[in-house]
Amino acid sequence: MKRIAVLTSGGDAPGMNAAIRAVVRTGLDKGWDVFGIRHGYVGLMAGNIVPLRARDASGIIHRGGTILGSARSAEFKTEDGRLKALRTLHEHELEALIVIGGGGSQIGAYELSHMDFPVVGVASTIDNDLYGSEITIGVDTALHVALEAIDRLKVTASSHQRAFLVEVMGRDCGYLALITGITGGAEAIVMPEIETDPEALASELRASYERGKAHALVVVAEGAQYNAAELSRYFQEHRERLGFELRVTILGHVQRGGVPGPFDRLLATRLGAAATEHLARGQHGLLVGLLKGEIAATPLAEVVANKKPLDLRLLELARVLAQ
Ligand code: F6P
Repeated sequence: MKRIAVLTSGGDAPGMNAAIRAVVRTGLDKGWDVFGIRHGYVGLMAGNIVPLRARDASGIIHRGGTILGSARSAEFKTEDGRLKALRTLHEHELEALIVIGGGGSQIGAYELSHMDFPVVGVASTIDNDLYGSEITIGVDTALHVALEAIDRLKVTASSHQRAFLVEVMGRDCGYLALITGITGGAEAIVMPEIETDPEALASELRASYERGKAHALVVVAEGAQYNAAELSRYFQEHRERLGFELRVTILGHVQRGGVPGPFDRLLATRLGAAATEHLARGQHGLLVGLLKGEIAATPLAEVVANKKPLDLRLLELARVLAQ
């Protein structure tokens, strides 16, 4: 009999519940006891642990967010915090932990596994910035939410011949902005991976009107050198000279609250199941993710030491398609 626990940590992502469900049901299928830790590492340090049975995972596959709750914890980043967490795991006689979360959460997973506790990570963040998975749980749904907003904004932008600026999430990563911009037909994309010159942006937008476009849409990543607030301020200050103003929409957490689509439900289900399979084989200190379309495991040490590259060729494609 194995006693394993699962937690969700960091920003919630649509599909986390499907991953929890997969961990619970595949764990029970092996005859294990499965426990849920509430509110991420905060709950782990506080010993906030509940047993999860088959019915506890009923009716959750289609729900966004996480039934276990999530949190960001400054205390867990300290050695004292991690020792506290380790104590809880031992006190509850837990033998392994599955951490569903993104970059920060997987650093925590790595630290625990470094302290000789068996941990497997499940790649989950809407930012898609995690090394070890070409796409993470929640990205596809977050893109759907952002696109729906953009499609709607384009309708009203065209009616008024206006320029719109839409800021999407992504922390320091421009992936959400890049994909939303390409698939939403944006005139320009502003992201942290490239330098932004507001004057050049203004020229691009003016040029698109001159080519006969009815609107101009800019997708901006929140982590860009100039985010939505800064661009808006710049355009406001130079309004007369630039000749037009920008309407700004910041999508923010709306992107995290979507109902997980089939892609995220399936990805989360496969990753959750793969995590328990690794534990069953005695393999840990790993992150499970999707690589070249297949479920694959990467050592957590490698995950935390590397930055996932972004394919900037897509940006050039976006520029060509915006003609
Ligand atoms: O990591 C996911 C994410 O949504 C980022 O895109 C964003 O920068 C951050 O979390 C927001 O964090 P919080 O929900 O703590 O404000």
